[in-house]
Amino acid sequence: MSSDIPKQPAVLPTHTPALFAEAVQRTVELLRAGELVAVPTETVYGLAGNAFDAVAVEKIFEMKGRPKQNPIIVHVASFETARSCVADWPEIAGKLATSFWPGPLTMVLPRSKDVPDVVTAGGATVGLRWPSHPFMQAVIRECGFPLAAPSANLANQVSPTNAEHVRRALGNKIALIVDGGQSQVGIESTVLDLTATPPRLLRPGMIHEESLLAVTGELTLGFGDSEEVLKSPGLLKKHYSPKAKLVLLSWRDESDLKRQLDGYSVALAKVHLIAHTKIPLNMELGRVSVIPHDAEAFARAIYAELHHCDEAGAELIVVEELPRNSEWRGIADRLQRAAA
Ligand code: TXA
Ligand code: MG
Repeated sequence: MSSDIPKQPAVLPTHTPALFAEAVQRTVELLRAGELVAVPTETVYGLAGNAFDAVAVEKIFEMKGRPKQNPIIVHVASFETARSCVADWPEIAGKLATSFWPGPLTMVLPRSKDVPDVVTAGGATVGLRWPSHPFMQAVIRECGFPLAAPSANLANQVSPTNAEHVRRALGNKIALIVDGGQSQVGIESTVLDLTATPPRLLRPGMIHEESLLAVTGELTLGFGDSEEVLKSPGLLKKHYSPKAKLVLLSWRDESDLKRQLDGYSVALAKVHLIAHTKIPLNMELGRVSVIPHDAEAFARAIYAELHHCDEAGAELIVVEELPRNSEWRGIADRLQRAAA
């Protein structure tokens, strides 16, 4: 890491056209110089570097403390750049891109030789995504190269969904954080492996399997306890974890909840609860937050809630069990990993 990184990062706003343009320019300068910048995307904030610059990508691994065997997603903003990253662009990739790009879908494809080994963790495939966030799009277009970007958190911690989350996680390591507002999707992209037949869902997300099936016709579910876990090391069982212990519970009423909490021997004041349907009103819990019973709203808010619980010193985070259907699958997947 270069020695001129300040102790306090610059945090650049983007809420007027002039500020947006200035932040794009500053970001592009740093990226062209081989430095890293924390940038907003619609899913979660990313820690970006030039995907074609192996040295810049090495810095990403170092800054995050990321295991070397975990490949990084490459972000593009045109079909031309996407194709320059892959050795093969099957028809199904074109169909999926037409349906879901720009947006929270990452497609795993055979890599081209332009993509350095460090990006793909030495593997033969590359994960590609065309993000919808206007700031990312402007930066990628201006740079002329794609951006390697994992979530902008330390390895295994909860992904950031606003600039302040990034500042707390990486503030003493990075020169520039761009504030593009609260991430609108709120959980990481759906990852779909197109080198398998039928395509294999490696990480569920807000583009869920029913939407994908409408395009692909067939799909293998390759997450959870499947043999594919090793193929995508970011899908380790325990991942995306807050500092506090996290449990998913369902309760009939407050006395039922109270009985269940007794089993954890944590003072109620240190228990923070996140509910969406059954809201305890008469318990001395440290905090009760309510997120609407709506998968999109829930995804948008959940990571910020988990960050908040950690900052407030929660010892136990209780999340009300989620519905078991495809719309909620991506969120349930992240929370199950956080609870593992
Ligand atoms: O929404 C997102 O995907 C965010 C934003 C910043 O774009 N990025 C993100 O990156 O979540 P990261 O590194 O935190 O998670 C990337 C996931 C990991 O599970 C990784 O193992 C998997 O994608 N992945 C990346 N390239 C892959 C490849 N070639 N084959 C299989 N899995 C891959
Ligand atoms: Mg991550």
